[in-house]
Amino acid sequence: MLNISRIKGKKICMIIGDPVEHSLSPKMHNTAYSFLGIDDEYFFISSNVKSESLKNTIEALKVLNIRGITCTIPHKQNVIKYLDELDDIAKKIGAVNTIINENGILRGYNTDWLGVKIPLEKLVDVKSKKVALIGASGAGQAVAYAIKKMGGELFIFNRTYEKAEKMAKKFNCEAYDIKSYEKIKKCDIIINSTSVGMGKMEGQSPIPLDIINKDHIVFDIVYKPKETELIKRALEVGAKVIYGYEMLLYQGIAQFELYTKCKAPEKIMLEILL
Ligand code: ATR
Repeated sequence: MLNISRIKGKKICMIIGDPVEHSLSPKMHNTAYSFLGIDDEYFFISSNVKSESLKNTIEALKVLNIRGITCTIPHKQNVIKYLDELDDIAKKIGAVNTIINENGILRGYNTDWLGVKIPLEKLVDVKSKKVALIGASGAGQAVAYAIKKMGGELFIFNRTYEKAEKMAKKFNCEAYDIKSYEKIKKCDIIINSTSVGMGKMEGQSPIPLDIINKDHIVFDIVYKPKETELIKRALEVGAKVIYGYEMLLYQGIAQFELYTKCKAPEKIMLEILL
């Protein structure tokens, strides 16, 4: 239960999604506020919002002058129609994970793509690398944008081919059925953007594990569990890996800076996630 005295007079930021209970964002942001000594000014909460309540929730948050809204599954695309303004990158990606309320005007942003770009560029020069994106999810749109922006050669693989095809047209790349394993194997970087590996699908992999070899870079955007089957296999064969928590961290840092206009304390935020 929320203790009202803790939020009185503060700028509230809130994550909305369904499910949202597992989210590490409140802890990550609140700890960062405390570390910077701005916890008397900001407070971060979470709320489970079903799709049918999204419109009313957004209207209410606007009236209540909530400072920032973090959107997660399944609202990243549907929320756009309720916003007043859209940042150019969010428009290109077609999904919003961050909303800023400036005096009742709601503006949508996407920081997910930075959560892809920053950990990748720490590890490899993506330019001209072949990148297999598994899944045509909302988060996958941000991955595709980041890869194209970094000059990678993108290939999209999805269980429902038509979705991959639609997305490939948007990002000017090739689409394949997820079962095109030989094609995936020939790529340099393999990125899972499906929900396979988390929740009810924990312990599963979206692709056969034996196609992973030591020359691959494997990036799984699933962050719970930390070591998905895909990541475990990549580590076993000596491939380089990027964990889902790294994406969560860097999208969160960009979001924190939009909400507070303060430089985010990266080390503290990482400690919380780990
Ligand atoms: P969101 O936009 O909220 O991230 P989504 O659009 O439902 O989620 O996308 C989930 C992704 O996981 C999709 O690419 C989905 O494939 P389909 O487009 O064929 O549905 C993928 N996915 C989910 N379960 C899967 C499974 N068991 N095997 C392979 N892909 C799966």
